[in-house]
Amino acid sequence: MHRLGSQDALPLHRQLYEALRRAVLDGKLAPGERLPSSRDLAQDLQLSRNTVVAAINQLTVEGYLSSHVGSGTYVHDNVPRAGRGSGGARQHLPAGTPAGGLSARGQTLSRQFCARELEVQPFTPGIADFSAFPLALWQRLQNKHWRMTYPDMLDYNASGGYAPLRRAITDYLRVFRSVHLDADQVVITTGTQQSLELCARLLADHGDTVWVEDPAYWGAAKALSACGQRIHPVAVDDEGICPGPADEAQPPRLIYVTPSHQYPTGAVMSLARRNQLLATARAHGAWVLEDDYDSEYRFSGPPLSSLQGLDPDGRVLYMGTFSKVLYPGLKLGYLVVPKALAEAFRQAHYDLNRPGQMPTQAALAEFIEMGHFASALRKARQSYAERRRCLLQALQPVLDMPGGQGPFISGAEQGLHLCLRLPAPVDDRALARQLAQQGLTVRPLSAYCLSRQDLRGLVIGYGYAPLAGIERWGPAIAAAVRQALD
Ligand SMILES: Cc1ncc(COP(=O)(O)O)c(C=O)c1O
Repeated sequence: MHRLGSQDALPLHRQLYEALRRAVLDGKLAPGERLPSSRDLAQDLQLSRNTVVAAINQLTVEGYLSSHVGSGTYVHDNVPRAGRGSGGARQHLPAGTPAGGLSARGQTLSRQFCARELEVQPFTPGIADFSAFPLALWQRLQNKHWRMTYPDMLDYNASGGYAPLRRAITDYLRVFRSVHLDADQVVITTGTQQSLELCARLLADHGDTVWVEDPAYWGAAKALSACGQRIHPVAVDDEGICPGPADEAQPPRLIYVTPSHQYPTGAVMSLARRNQLLATARAHGAWVLEDDYDSEYRFSGPPLSSLQGLDPDGRVLYMGTFSKVLYPGLKLGYLVVPKALAEAFRQAHYDLNRPGQMPTQAALAEFIEMGHFASALRKARQSYAERRRCLLQALQPVLDMPGGQGPFISGAEQGLHLCLRLPAPVDDRALARQLAQQGLTVRPLSAYCLSRQDLRGLVIGYGYAPLAGIERWGPAIAAAVRQALD
């Protein structure tokens, strides 16, 4: 929801009424969906509770919401939607247009796991604590670079990104991730989604097969299928992606992997499996897309290097992001491409995406060069290590349960989340829904599965949850799991 402000001519309760009404009509709030309590909404939006209650009352009177004493406020089941009934802009669709005006691809995409379920809450996996970001310092750097900005910095950029930033990333990746690269192989993107899109568009044709880990990072599967690739799920075990004969029968053009910390199980791809994967890619003439999304945070176990650093043939395209160390809305990531492809990628990026944001890239380059990135990372590591320890401690009683085939934890050595694996009879979606009713957003592992049916668990983030929140609510998660296991 956009920020409500006093500069708007409407009173605040009316602005909130309009914003919620629009969200219902546009389907951003689904029929039957429960709204946060008026107290939570007031706190989140920094409004008075009276303002929130006035807006909710009005929407209830008009039939957009229904309130049940003691159980909360819900979106009414029979609200007309924009474009297909009263209240919203009507669309006149050409004959033969699929329902709702979406293309077949659009319909498939909208059926898949959707961002609305990914709202940031304390235990949402994969989210960093961006409240720790040194905003004042960042503002100073931004101001400085805006003051010094020459007109050419306001133009589109054709060189793959601001050169000092590409150099700073190159130095970091060489030292900390053992990536083999020169700065001209780095393309600055708006993040992993755009890196994936570029790879899909330049390296594969419509209908080509892409192997995607199962379970998977839904964002990658979605970005690749939106580019016309045929997703072939390949099961992951505790050594990473594990293609079998049935997979080999579906030769890939692209292989998408998260080898250092499989998302979401957290499996680390073993050296043997890495070599096997590179050999498989070679045999099929496929490209490997390595998403190294959270390797900055490694808490235990030996240091890991990138898959790209092991690759003798230049088949691996490496992608990283600033979303997990700085903040996601910064929208800056990077793609390292093989030398021979660098010019083609720069040109395509320029033509397809018209990249820019040069003053921001300049501020980020200085942020890294002056050691602020390293210091933010050091602080973040300390803080997440503490949160991780606290969450592991809270979950310990569940792991100690007798009975052999009980729950276990995977993927806690690194990153911002861990995976509490549960035995198959447990309904992890019901468990996650139950926890959501207490305001605890964890994700069911089965929701990440593309085709397999055998995995159950909870994917729990600790990056965004304050330590006190983990101390308080970690035991509540453990208690709910215990109950589900009984
Ligand atoms: C596995 C994985 N890769 C990439 C990303 C996001 O990267 P970006 O914000 O750069 O698109 C995420 C975000 O949660 C993720 O979980």
